[in-house]
Amino acid sequence: MTASTDNAATRRGFGIDVGGSGVKGAVVDLDTGQLIGERFRLPTPQPATPDNVGDAVAAVVHEFGWTGPLGVTYPGVVVGGTVRTAANVDKSWIGCNAQDVFSAKLDGQPVTILNDADAAGLAEARFGAGRGVSGLVVLLTFGTGIGSAVIYNGVLLPNTEFGHIEVDGKEAEHRAASSVKERKEWSYERWTEEVTKVLIAVENAICPDLFIAGGGISKKADKWIPLLKNRTPVVAATLLNTAGIVGAAMAADTATNH
Ligand code: BGC
Repeated sequence: MTASTDNAATRRGFGIDVGGSGVKGAVVDLDTGQLIGERFRLPTPQPATPDNVGDAVAAVVHEFGWTGPLGVTYPGVVVGGTVRTAANVDKSWIGCNAQDVFSAKLDGQPVTILNDADAAGLAEARFGAGRGVSGLVVLLTFGTGIGSAVIYNGVLLPNTEFGHIEVDGKEAEHRAASSVKERKEWSYERWTEEVTKVLIAVENAICPDLFIAGGGISKKADKWIPLLKNRTPVVAATLLNTAGIVGAAMAADTATNH
């Protein structure tokens, strides 16, 4: 996706989305949520340790010659730059101050690390499916695991981990991540029974005004969102594979300028 506006007035940021298979970065127009130019992607190094991923992050940044603050997503809890959990990634991340590790690889460029779903939630709430929606918005990403973001009137409550709440004796992401659908070769009908249970557990706990469904499977939203039987309206994410990059750039901008 490209933006046509590329003038001196454009407020630019830089975001990198670290996923299981790719480390993807782009320059972001912070006022429109559009990418400026193309994304650049490197395969996620294996093993995906902080050091190796840091090298890939630095290579992506250098590809653009970006020298300002940047945001990077991480698929777990991050508090003050330090990683606290690693459900689906290399356990060596736990306790690592990834912000410092990455920044050191970039000659001290300021790096802001945040949870991947939180990044997607920030972007969707401001520029995507939650745009203009007031009240409590919960984004859930369905992928290898389930990520969550809670946004109240545009403000993120970071590090919610609804993918790990217990639903009928089983962790939500073990019940209803899209990876479970694939592994068990379930139909959308069968899978949405599990998704419905997870949504009901979340809405019983915090009563959102809107759910946004993200993750790769949201591209097929018309096949499954209509099958859900929970109370709260559910809409599909609209930024899809740019949400993490855009949200990471937004978080870096907030950390630096606000
Ligand atoms: C992690 C979350 C993450 C989600 C999606 C979960 O297993 O605990 O922090 O947002 O996966 O990557």
